[in-house]
Order: sequence, then structure tokens, then C-alpha cells
Amino acid sequence: MDEDTPRTDGGTERAEPAEDVALDPWGSASVGDYADLFEEFGIEAFDDVADDVTDPHYLMRRGVIFGHREYDAVAEAMANDEPFAALSGFMPTGDPHIGHKLVFDEIIWHQRQGGDAFGLIADLEAHSARGMSWDEIDEHARNYLLSLLALGFDAEEGELYRQSDNREVQDLGFELGSKANFSEFEAIYGFDGETNISHMQSVITQTADILYPQLVDEPKPTVIPVGPDQDPHVRLTRDLATRVRYFKVTEAFASFELDDDERQLVRAAYDALAAGSAGDDAEIDDAETDVRCEDAAEWLADYEPPESVSEAKSGALDKLRSGGKEPLRPRVRFFDRNATEEAFEALIEAVDGEKRVFEGHVDAFELTRGEAESVAREVEIDHDGFGFRQPSSIYHRFMTGLTGGKMSSSVPASHISLLDDPEDGYDKVRAATTGGRDTAEEQRELGGEADECPVYELYAYLLAGDDDELTKTVYSECVNGERLCGGCKEQAAELMREFLEDHQEKREEAEELLDDLDIDLDSDRRGTGGEH
Ligand code: TRP
Ligand code: SF4
Repeated sequence: MDEDTPRTDGGTERAEPAEDVALDPWGSASVGDYADLFEEFGIEAFDDVADDVTDPHYLMRRGVIFGHREYDAVAEAMANDEPFAALSGFMPTGDPHIGHKLVFDEIIWHQRQGGDAFGLIADLEAHSARGMSWDEIDEHARNYLLSLLALGFDAEEGELYRQSDNREVQDLGFELGSKANFSEFEAIYGFDGETNISHMQSVITQTADILYPQLVDEPKPTVIPVGPDQDPHVRLTRDLATRVRYFKVTEAFASFELDDDERQLVRAAYDALAAGSAGDDAEIDDAETDVRCEDAAEWLADYEPPESVSEAKSGALDKLRSGGKEPLRPRVRFFDRNATEEAFEALIEAVDGEKRVFEGHVDAFELTRGEAESVAREVEIDHDGFGFRQPSSIYHRFMTGLTGGKMSSSVPASHISLLDDPEDGYDKVRAATTGGRDTAEEQRELGGEADECPVYELYAYLLAGDDDELTKTVYSECVNGERLCGGCKEQAAELMREFLEDHQEKREEAEELLDDLDIDLDSDRRGTGGEH
């Protein structure tokens, strides 16, 4: 990442971001240390959800997909046969290459697991952020779509679109844009007074892309498979999805508000005292316990809270003390965030059981948090709201370039295009950098460094396909010194040639499929000719 590239970490969550981490959607796609992304941005380790995925994809099994945000929601829907979706987008700035294939495969896999699948061409972004002309965009778009179809995307079940042609996406973007402002774009993306307006519009369009699967039919868990450089978009979209909601559902114990940590302490006090007052064996019946704020304050004053919430103790104490004799009773609270008057009325109506209505919020005493979330979503949708869930994401590692360093579309020898002549593909692999030792003798003695080897990556990310035995064999033979690079590369190069031959044959077959689709690849848009 060059020094001048603006940081894109939002700048608000931590005062001192680590020097080598920055996620820039339009910068160079490289990441210093993947582990830093967890702490720095709150991306979670994929390992943590891997066990919830039935029959995981090989990219998940091999750690190529390393991180996620809330993928548990998608895994759960998948396991329970509930609706879910997968969507990703591609900027048509050049030929699709083996890095894009990872994402194509991820979309297709989710489609085969029963998800609604979406693939989009980010043409507005390519035109505004990369200065591509519409003619160039048309040609590249065609190539992306052909490869996606050739790899098995089912276009009858799923949906392919280009941003410029999707009116619903643009309308959604307009709506979402009314909840975002320039300062935020400045903080997230490093935009400044020089940033062109259409580039900003393309960002808001991407947030609409990400939520589009939930607009088409109903709100549902949606996974966005992307490289970690796209995480700023995911974070922004997760925020906007919340900001457009009609109601905010929280849990409370009395008239005052609590933050999450304070709530944990008040709950501890309530549980201790309510259990006492209801007798040891009796079920806790909220209506019959008689715990008052001041009692809870007294209890809490002597309580030693867990370290993680200890800072919240004095705040919780203040609130409980000023609550005085007000009874403490658990409840869910609905705040009116963006609702129309009718929607707020309808919500009050829809809350079952005991409730209390206040200016701008409703307290419900007989609903669980989950039930309350569903009621809020249903009322919102019935009253022309979106009812979005926050989108989920998964992140894959970037492939190392064949020449070492990063894979870059401007260095042809560093990557393999899906349109490369199979012989060129063969040659590029034969010429690739390896993790091998200087001499065969050393290699036999010390073993190769498969973890540092772009050729090993080719096996793991692509050439071995679903065959874990092959990756394991290559790996162990390499590190044990039983495998020499010449033969290893020959094998990989042949597999690459076969893959490209096969893929290109399938692309030809896909031509017809593509022509039958309702997607305009000969746009008559006028505009500027591109920056060269
Ligand atoms: N910004 C993405 C890229 O640079 C393309 C994109 C547009 C996208 N809309 C999207 C990716 C929605 C994922 C989801 O390639
Ligand atoms: Fe890489 Fe294969 Fe050489 Fe090992 S033997 S370093 S995997 S090329």
C-alpha cells in the first residue's frame, strides 16, 4: 500500500490503527497480515463458524476463506432449509482471472446449497472510479458473465445484472444515500474535495447491490463473498441496513436506558433479587416479584463484576439509584426510529400482552427479544419499509502472484487470465516462482517451503478442485523433501492447461445461454471515452 493512500478504517473505532493494515477498495489488493484484520476491523475468523457449515466448500476447508462477518446467520439458514442469498459484484476493468474464479465459485456453491444467487457487473463503478469507456465495459462485462456461466452459475434460478440497468438498485441506493453523508465517506474511504461525485454515487450503488437480494423477495440472511479490500463497503452497508429500519429493539428493566454492559449488570442484580424474592424453588414470575431499583442498587454496590463490564458499574449504579422505588421489570423496548405515524400505531396494535406506550417508544412485557424483532420487521414491511437484516460476508485470501509479490492485472506474467491461451497458461506456471531450495540436494534435505509457494497455492486454490488428497500429497511431499519443483510445476502446468481448455470450451457453450438472458451487453450509453 503506498504511503499516500488514505486509510479506510473509518478512523473512529480505534485511536491508533496498526501501521500496515489498510483496506482500500480502489488501492492495491494486498494485505500485510490477515490476523490483523480481526482485531483492527472486527472481521471474525472463519474457523469460528466453520463447524456450523454442512459440507463446506474446499476454499473453506483449506483456509482460503479466512474471515467473515455474521456468516453464522447464513450457515444456520442453510442448515435449516430457510431462505438465504449470496451476491457479489465484478468491476469490468479487464479480463476475468483466476482470482475472480474464487468468487464465481463461492456464489455458485451457495446457489447449489439452495441460496438465491446474484452476480452483478459494477459498470457504474468502473466508469466513475476507473474511467472505463462504455464500450470497454460492455466487452469486459461479457467476459465476466461468460466465465460465471461456464463455471456453473444457473441463470434461470439466479439473477445477473449490470448496475446501470437495474432501476430498483438505483432507487434503493437513492434511499440509502439519504442516511449517509460526506463526512462518513471521507472517514471510510478517504474521499476528499477532489473525489468525483459519480464515484460517490457508485459507492451508494454498491450498498444497494448488497441489500438488493432482500428487496427482491423478503429480508433474509445474505452472504457477500469478496476480498477483504471490500470490507469497508460491507461495514457501511451493515450500518445503513440498520439506519433505515423503522424500529430499534432493545432490552430494558425500567424507564431508563442502559448500554450493553450496564444491562448485563442490572440483569445480574435482577436475577439475584428476583430469585430471592420468589423463593428458591419457585419459577420466577416477573409480575409477582417486587424488586425495586434502589434494592438493585444496594445489591450491585457490593457486587464484584466481571472485568469486561466493570467500567459500567458506576453508570448502572447511578441509574438504579435515581430509579428509586420504580419496580425493576425486564421488558423489550421498541424505539421509533423512522416509522410513519401509522406504522407506529400498527406496531402498538401488534404487540401482544402487557405493554406500555410512551412518546417515541413502546415497552412490551411479554415478548422475547426474538419475537419483538419479528413483530418490528413485519410491521415495517407492511408499511412500505425494507425490514433489512444486516448482510453477512466472507473473505478470501488474495493469491500470490506467479512471479512472487502480489497478483496484478497489469503484470500479465503474475496472473492467469481465464481467457489465456492454455499453452500460455502452461508456460506461466512452468515459469512461476516457487518455495523451493537452491539445489535439488538441499530440497531433499530440508524440504520445500510449500507455505511460501505460489505453485502450491495454485493447487490449493484451484487446480486440486475438491480433491483434498491431492493438496495434502503435494504439501507433505514438498515439505518432506520428496518432491522437486520441476516435476511439481510440470504437473501443475498440465492441470492448468487442462483447466483452461475445459473452461474455454464451456465459455463457448455459455454464449448461447448469455444471449438468451435479458441483459444488455451493447449499451447505447453516451459518455466520456475513458482515461488512458
Ligand atoms: N466494488 C467491487 C469491486 O471492486 C464490485 C462490486 C460492486 C461489488 N457491487 C458489489 C462486490 C456488491 C460485492 C457486492 O470489485
Ligand atoms: Fe512449490 Fe512444488 Fe516446489 Fe514445493 S515442490 S516448493 S509446492 S513447486
